[in-house]
Amino acid sequence: MTLLTVWPESGPEETLVRTSDPEEIATTLKEHGVRFSRWSVVDGVTAENALRAYEDEIARVSETEGYGYVDAMEMTPADTDEYRAKAVEFRNRFLAEHTHDDDEDRYFARGAGVFYLHIGDKVYAVLCTAGDLLSVPANTTHWFDMGTRPDYVSVRFFHDDDGWIGNFTGSDIATRFPTFDELVSAAGSGM
Ligand SMILES: [Fe+2]
Repeated sequence: MTLLTVWPESGPEETLVRTSDPEEIATTLKEHGVRFSRWSVVDGVTAENALRAYEDEIARVSETEGYGYVDAMEMTPADTDEYRAKAVEFRNRFLAEHTHDDDEDRYFARGAGVFYLHIGDKVYAVLCTAGDLLSVPANTTHWFDMGTRPDYVSVRFFHDDDGWIGNFTGSDIATRFPTFDELVSAAGSGM
């Protein structure tokens, strides 16, 4: 279930907004220049066939936003040391607050991930699930949690080769908010 939770930047003690309505999520984020929309989910998508499965949607976004390069990423749980090592490495990569020089545009073809956008004096946590397309505008402070058992296929859009590099702010704000695992478990229990 897609879920937007908004807290004050001071911490999650008080919840300002909590909604799983895609229209409300899109409207709330649009005020900050963040694009959120949904595509129809194609079943059985992998990193290998994602670009073909969503050819038309990808072409539309690339043309509208001027993206020159698109790729697909996949993490599929497996009982192997390789998966466990990758899960830790990939999760930690963007788990602290950072910005990018380029927009970070992601489509979730399968699975889930949480983008935490730190805008003004609030934190907007967007739990993205299959069918969600989210854009984090360039220079927006944010972090990303794929959980301790990453499971997703995502499509990434780029304007240039190194726009995805993280500029870390050094803030520990990310440690004060619920993790992917905690948000998913709360969403599942209908909290
Ligand atoms: Fe990022």
